Amino acid sequence: MKLWGGRFTKETNQLVHNFNASISFDQKFFKQDIEGSIAHVTMLAKQGILSEPEKEAIISGLNGIREDIIKGTLSIDGTYEDIHSFVEANLIQRVGEAGKKLHTGRSRNDQVALDMKLYTRDELIQTKELLKNLLIVLQNTMKENLNTYMPGFTHLQKAQPITLAHHIGAYFEMFKRDYARLSDIYKRMNYSPIGSGALAGTTYPLDRNYTAKLLGFDGPTLNSMDSVADRDYLIEFLSALSIIMMHLSRFCEEIILWNSNEYQFVELDDAYSTGSSIMPQKKNPDIAELVRGKTGRVYGSLISLLTTMKGLPLAYNKDMQEDKELTFDATDTVKGCLGLFTGMLSSMKFNKSVMALSAKKGFTNATDAADYLVNHGVPFRDAHTIVGQLVLYCINKGIALEDMALEEFKAICPVFEKDVYEAISLKTCVEKRNTIGAPGKAAMEQVIALNDEFLRSISENRENLSF
Ligand code: ARG
Repeated sequence: MKLWGGRFTKETNQLVHNFNASISFDQKFFKQDIEGSIAHVTMLAKQGILSEPEKEAIISGLNGIREDIIKGTLSIDGTYEDIHSFVEANLIQRVGEAGKKLHTGRSRNDQVALDMKLYTRDELIQTKELLKNLLIVLQNTMKENLNTYMPGFTHLQKAQPITLAHHIGAYFEMFKRDYARLSDIYKRMNYSPIGSGALAGTTYPLDRNYTAKLLGFDGPTLNSMDSVADRDYLIEFLSALSIIMMHLSRFCEEIILWNSNEYQFVELDDAYSTGSSIMPQKKNPDIAELVRGKTGRVYGSLISLLTTMKGLPLAYNKDMQEDKELTFDATDTVKGCLGLFTGMLSSMKFNKSVMALSAKKGFTNATDAADYLVNHGVPFRDAHTIVGQLVLYCINKGIALEDMALEEFKAICPVFEKDVYEAISLKTCVEKRNTIGAPGKAAMEQVIALNDEFLRSISENRENLSF
């Protein structure tokens, strides 16, 4: 059954039908389509546009369709143009005349705008839940590694010592921002387009506030043309998903490096790595590589929708049907990646002694040696040069700064005394960095307490995003 056969004298060309149809993908939101229709007819009956018995018949028919599809006793017929036509036709088969009134005061334009919003809202909530699980794993890893020393890098060169807790804490901040971004988008998108009609509202006395309330929206949208033409919330959502993937991808890149034979900072669990068909010794970080690889695909969805939207005149245009497959693909991809990444991270082992040794070997305490001299009255620029000479001396001898004898220190600069060893130990280098945000234990403990409060607030649904 077509929804629009009346003014046509010929059958649609089969290729045209196939090209135009969206049922192969928009069936993904059959539940939201039915949920929206139930709210719409509830409102129509409240307004006296449908009778109570008509409303009851339609709602029980729609509930039956939903149950049967879920049970598998009704399969979605792919010869229909879209999910909206399929549900309406099936409803009419089930409940007869009353079913023909379902579409009163509604167009597919506001219907599809509603369905897509409801679907995206559900996906957004699931994405937040997955981010929360990841944040919990990150926070636990931080708590366990306040004293796990490792080198911090700039330019991928060893720079200054930090702790694993501090490094992981950087990712906590990124994913916390991602979480907050999704909450912002939710707030902005949570207005109901249904009742906007094709583009210019409708002559029926609809109560759009009521339908919006039934569907958990904060209110109705305020311009019927914008309502059917707006896909900003999808672009925002795809943008937030792209940023999540960028963060996951950076983390994956580090895990791939850390898991390499050269670093050996981590060991991936067997359950989260794969082997080679030819090289028996190999244990590959395929999951991390795939997450990194799939990032491009999610960016692609964002650019694709931005490009689709850029030249569209108001109001609805069929181009907008292209919003679906790419959004479905991006949300499924990101949800899959978040779940797998969290599992991989929580099962991964950190080789703490290798990390500490690496920090010790890379002259990561050179800045602290210079600061030692500054604290003993040497101007920083001179101290920088002196420590440069110490480093050169150590490179030639193949030793670390703290392996030098006091006489060797003094031969280059007499200011050094035996308390230099304490001053440039890994522990001191980290522990003295106690401004908020720095790796010192006292500073990290303050951040961890704030993170705990943040996690509590989101678990108890009283989100406090001002951290
Ligand atoms: N399948 C369409 C879409 O996804 C539904 C809306 C159709 N509206 C129309 N006027 N042809 O956008």
